[in-house]
Amino acid sequence: MTSLSDVWPIFGLRLTTPRLELRPIRDEDIPAAVEAAKSGIHAAGRNPFSTPWTELPADELGANMARWYWRCRAECTPESWTLLLGIWHEDEFIGCQDVGAKDFAALKTVTTGSWLKQSVQGRGLGKEMRAAVALYAFDWLGAEVAESEAADWNDASLGVSRSLGYELNGTTRKAWGSKAETVQHVRLAPDSFKRPDWDLKVEGHEQSARFLKVS
Ligand SMILES: CC(C)(COP(=O)(O)OP(=O)(O)OC[C@H]1O[C@@H](n2cnc3c(N)ncnc32)[C@H](O)[C@@H]1OP(=O)(O)O)[C@@H](O)C(=O)NCCC(=O)NCCS
Repeated sequence: MTSLSDVWPIFGLRLTTPRLELRPIRDEDIPAAVEAAKSGIHAAGRNPFSTPWTELPADELGANMARWYWRCRAECTPESWTLLLGIWHEDEFIGCQDVGAKDFAALKTVTTGSWLKQSVQGRGLGKEMRAAVALYAFDWLGAEVAESEAADWNDASLGVSRSLGYELNGTTRKAWGSKAETVQHVRLAPDSFKRPDWDLKVEGHEQSARFLKVS
């Protein structure tokens, strides 16, 4: 019988670290993602995202998150893709780590973004999930560069980057909603990657790579 992972091979991908499981968010996971987001991601008035989605009224947040997940899926092609990986810790949904690329065949460059619910921040989990997608990008997809960015005041995000060996890669001034922010760009190459002392377990890679036309 044909399964959903046969139809949409990315759904079969699963990355496992010592404490976390990362896998594409399916429709049935969306309520848990919304609950995690509603529990709080950042201090009030301290929006860390280029699109200030967490500041939406509570009754709009869920539909907006669903819309974003569906849009990312609908627009996922070999030329431009985003893997929206949910993060599970002790069987609880605690956040999201995305990894994506445009023109990966030519650029071999991925970009990442992430969030964790506030109650589990500061325990090394953000570093563990970013390390997971960096390992997957470099060792399985053949990426040559991983890029990220954060507001220049976002010490936690920049702390994850620094701790994994990312180099600072310039700043730009951007409009985030109605606010001007100075955005710090960071960049990691395999030879400067401070690899974790654990191995990443990967399941479902071949079908996903075929679907994304990554050789
Ligand atoms: C960004 C985020 C995912 C980081 O995850 P985390 O679990 O809180 O961070 P970790 O505990 O893994 O910390 C990783 C490193 O950053 C450092 N760090 C974390 N928070 C820090 C802070 N507030 N100030 C300074 N350093 C910090 C840690 O000391 C650690 O460094 P080390 O490995 O050298 O000890 C998480 O804080 C988060 O979701 N924040 C809100 C959303 C957000 O900002 N998303 C990113 C948008 S760009």
